[in-house]
Amino acid sequence: MGPCGDAPECGAWRESFRIGDDLIDGQHQTFFRMVAEAQERADRGGVEVVGRSLNFLASYAVLHFRDEERLMAACHYPGLAEHQRAHQAFVVQVAALLKTFETAPSQVTAQEVLPMIRDWLVFHILGMDKQFEPWVERMGKP
Ligand SMILES: [Fe+2]
Ligand SMILES: [Fe+2]
Repeated sequence: MGPCGDAPECGAWRESFRIGDDLIDGQHQTFFRMVAEAQERADRGGVEVVGRSLNFLASYAVLHFRDEERLMAACHYPGLAEHQRAHQAFVVQVAALLKTFETAPSQVTAQEVLPMIRDWLVFHILGMDKQFEPWVERMGKP
């Protein structure tokens, strides 16, 4: 069980995740919705659902990380390099999961993978994306 427990609302985006940029906050919300939808499909569907969901989440992560890093660069955020490494580590982790899935699908179950992805998101947004909030706030101000 992850840090948010197993309450029904556990997988949802929360107001406390907001960092103050509409694009980034919207993408974070989409992420949580995608994980929740993948979970619903996985509960009904077979093993191929996991592979499709992983592929889809992986490409969405790449898109989101690119946009978020662009915004950080535009704000001259000093934590950008460290943040990029955290994003990269997640991409590598999901790529490894996908590889395992391709060779031994039965070893990668939605019940393990999806909560893991969701927990990473919660930790990453609260622990790292949130640190960037003051720079977003200052952006465009003299
Ligand atoms: Fe991030
Ligand atoms: Fe993010």
